[in-house]
Amino acid sequence: MINSKIKKCLFPAAGYGTRFLPATKAIPKEMLPVLTKPLLQYGVEEAIAAGCDTMAIVTGRGKRAIEDHFDRSYELENQIDGTSKEVLMDGIRGIVNGYTFSYTRQVEMKGLGHAILTGQTLIGNEPFAVILADDLCDNSNDTVLTQMTKLYEKYPDKCIVAIEEIPKEFTNKYGVIAGELIEDNLYKVTDMVEKPEPQDAPSNLAIIGRYILIPEIFDVIKETKPGKGGEIQITDALLTLAKQGKVLGFQFEGTRFDCGSVDGFVEATNYFYNKEVK
Ligand code: UTP
Repeated sequence: MINSKIKKCLFPAAGYGTRFLPATKAIPKEMLPVLTKPLLQYGVEEAIAAGCDTMAIVTGRGKRAIEDHFDRSYELENQIDGTSKEVLMDGIRGIVNGYTFSYTRQVEMKGLGHAILTGQTLIGNEPFAVILADDLCDNSNDTVLTQMTKLYEKYPDKCIVAIEEIPKEFTNKYGVIAGELIEDNLYKVTDMVEKPEPQDAPSNLAIIGRYILIPEIFDVIKETKPGKGGEIQITDALLTLAKQGKVLGFQFEGTRFDCGSVDGFVEATNYFYNKEVK
């Protein structure tokens, strides 16, 4: 764990997860497990490793399993205490006992930008991290968010978005940036477009689900009109700040799995199985 200025991490987790129906009819997408751990717990562990002590979670209807997971379960714990299975609860017990979880509900799913604005009540007026738990990241050295919080120490008045090179034919699944390289793996963002068709994409550098945001973003989101798909897009809000030179794109070290898609979820499962079980 590092001593970072970023203490709060926001987890937008209100989406419907339609690509995983029927599994996500009653189970939140963020609670689907890779091996034995829910996606959201991986995200929380990454935030803790980066120095965050407060997890601010934006939920919605049908997402109560998230709150129950990050709480005690007296009956179950009583049953397994003193047995060989107790060790399986060590990780989650340490998280529940050591960190603060706060929740708010997004009543209408009006997009990621809107979900982040809904979280303002939990964040207040300070810089914060955002993790989209369905982008599962792994790295043998610093976690992706730790790399970003370290970078933020050097650029405390900027937003930082994690970016990754993708095959050009997939640009219509991501926010895509244009930028000027200012140091190794770091771009000053000059343009960003939500889900452009390959011929319209300004580059093949896609934004993935890790952000460090300055509190100014909330006022900008309030002024941002619905964009692609009629949703309030965080990419559109960040573009306003990018035009003022306030957004950096960071090409992180590590592997990312798009666990919001079935292909990515299966890849992640195989990867962690080979790494941790075999
Ligand atoms: P996605 O578009 O990947 O999630 O949003 P989704 O809408 O749940 O998935 P599909 O496409 O229907 O399968 C990225 C992240 O933003 C959150 C989602 O929960 C996910 O973590 N989100 C999205 C919200 O919290 N609120 C929204 O209105 C939209």
